[in-house]
Amino acid sequence: MAQIKCDRDGFATKLGVLTATLGSAVGLGNIWKFPYMTGENGGATFLAVYILCTLVVGLPVMISEIMLGRFGKANVIATWRKLTPNRIWTLAGVGGVVAAVALMAFYTGVVGWVFSYIVKAVTGQLNTTDPAVAQSVFGGMVSDTWAALGWQWFVLVLVSVIIIAGVSKGIERVTKTLMPILFIMLLIVCVRSLTLPKAMEGLAFLFTPDFSKVTTDMVLMALGLAFFKLSLGVGTMMTYGSYFRDDANIPLTATRVMLADLTVSLLAGIAIFPAVFNYGFEPAAGPGLLFMTIPAVFSSMPMGQLFMTIFFVLTGIATIGAMLSIIEVPVAFMAETWAGCSRKMATIVTSTTLALFGIPATLSFGVMGDVKFFGKTAFDCYDFLSSNILMPSVGLVICLFIGWAWGRDHVRKALSNNGALENEGLANIYFFLVKFVSPVLVAIVLAKGLGLF
Ligand code: ALA
Repeated sequence: MAQIKCDRDGFATKLGVLTATLGSAVGLGNIWKFPYMTGENGGATFLAVYILCTLVVGLPVMISEIMLGRFGKANVIATWRKLTPNRIWTLAGVGGVVAAVALMAFYTGVVGWVFSYIVKAVTGQLNTTDPAVAQSVFGGMVSDTWAALGWQWFVLVLVSVIIIAGVSKGIERVTKTLMPILFIMLLIVCVRSLTLPKAMEGLAFLFTPDFSKVTTDMVLMALGLAFFKLSLGVGTMMTYGSYFRDDANIPLTATRVMLADLTVSLLAGIAIFPAVFNYGFEPAAGPGLLFMTIPAVFSSMPMGQLFMTIFFVLTGIATIGAMLSIIEVPVAFMAETWAGCSRKMATIVTSTTLALFGIPATLSFGVMGDVKFFGKTAFDCYDFLSSNILMPSVGLVICLFIGWAWGRDHVRKALSNNGALENEGLANIYFFLVKFVSPVLVAIVLAKGLGLF
């Protein structure tokens, strides 16, 4: 039986709760993955499906995770053990820890690209609007074995140092100051991008959906992105929920986080797509889209090099908030479960594991580019396994548990803070979604992802 052996630190203020949760949600998902997936999947139609998935599945699952986490006040696995004596549900906790490791193994590699782009911006290597030059700079960076691995390892060391500083001190301090600055920076890029001659083509691509083009594959991708974006199904929101104060308004906090997160994604889209069309980049360019188009936007404006550097620095900081929250899952689990394992030790073990598992993913753009598993590179496998299979599966189990095992009375009590908040109507809508709608949608999409139909 797991023993909770350390005193749990917590979020000191209500603002701290909101900013740290938002800090977990906002990251590469908004600035890097949302634009490139929207570009690859045809633009506005994908955006509409993604928003629907976020409302019908993402938000209810986020509320669920935070609620269960606050109830358990422990790491994910210990929380499941407190919630129910039936050990089968604990598998969702294990799935979350595995998903967190699979996700971070490739995520930290991409954060490495961001940090390498800070150096490239400072040294003037990104001052180009030519798609061919931008492609060769990006391609050269990701395919350079030691540079790509070196940057990833640098990122892992940086995050480990911050985690070892402790929950409220480390995480709150970093995330509190970050959000407003990143937001303003994105607004500046949007203004520049919107004043480019062919900006309207980019906006039309992003905002004119054609629902006849919706496919089940598109829904699979959008659902995976919704989980990735809100850091769901990896145990993060459950772990963060365990640090929530008893008087925190969970549905309100989750809704605010979801809306703010969506706003940042949309801003990233508005910053990128006008430039894509203006300079002749390929909307479906894939993971390199951000790294090629953003330099083009800045290169064509006064003081562009300075702004470009600030942009990549802020993106780097945003990713730190997200990484801290996800790496916290295995760290909290190890430190609270294994006797004699300090947070420091747990952090070092986790980072080393990520460094090792990350190697094939990071080298997928270089020497391991031709090594395929089920037709996918290691990078794509990790992404697919975490975002499209493990995270939605954990989300599905959470919905089934709350809807069919934990029950409406527990939900009402938990969401109203034992009657202190009057939100019964809201709790009923939430319960309906979690019991009937979200699990059915996730199950269908998962079955498709697993090739069952
Ligand atoms: N939610 C995190 C992000 O979007 C993982 O980057």
